Amino acid sequence: MKIAIAGALCAALLAASVTAQAEVSPEDQIKLRKAGYSFMGWNMGKIKEQVIDETVSYNPDQVLAAANAISAISKSGMGALFGPGTETNVGDQVTRVKPEMFENTPDVITLSGDLTRAAENLVAAADEGDQSKVRTAFGEVGQTCKACHDKYRQK
Ligand code: HEC
Repeated sequence: MKIAIAGALCAALLAASVTAQAEVSPEDQIKLRKAGYSFMGWNMGKIKEQVIDETVSYNPDQVLAAANAISAISKSGMGALFGPGTETNVGDQVTRVKPEMFENTPDVITLSGDLTRAAENLVAAADEGDQSKVRTAFGEVGQTCKACHDKYRQK
């Protein structure tokens, strides 16, 4: 009896969490995914200034923090923000996603995995504090961003 109740409770909790996911409206999904990408872009910019352009002096702690932020977002499950109804502009939200992104899930998973791995390498390099390794790892992350944009983001 106890087990049956526990099972029922688990099912109810699961249903509740699935419902909570579904409650993110298409408009908010677009808003949130753009925010996630923009935030990664901001952090990439900070690393670029310090290790590529060298217009800002190298600060290992800031570079590590930026790398960690990119890595965390890359692993945050952004796929959930590409739900049905988010293929085109919704309400106030303009999207640049290409419809092909919704038809090539395995490829998108591969490209996302490439970013996650590259971001982990960037964190490792930043953690070592070796500027030249950070430079290389940063370039590799940038390649993974571009690979997806070239295929699935409109100009
Ligand atoms: C798996 C595919 C994919 C990867 C990997 C990816 N992006 Fe994007 N990115 C997109 C798509 C799709 C959009 C368009 C989103 C929209 O408009 O709904 C986008 C949009 C953006 C935008 C514009 C956001 C806005 O407010 O309109 C920026 C900035 C951006 N990406 C930066 C990055 C950076 C930096 C990385 C790598 C660290 C990255 N992206 C990796 C697919 C990807």
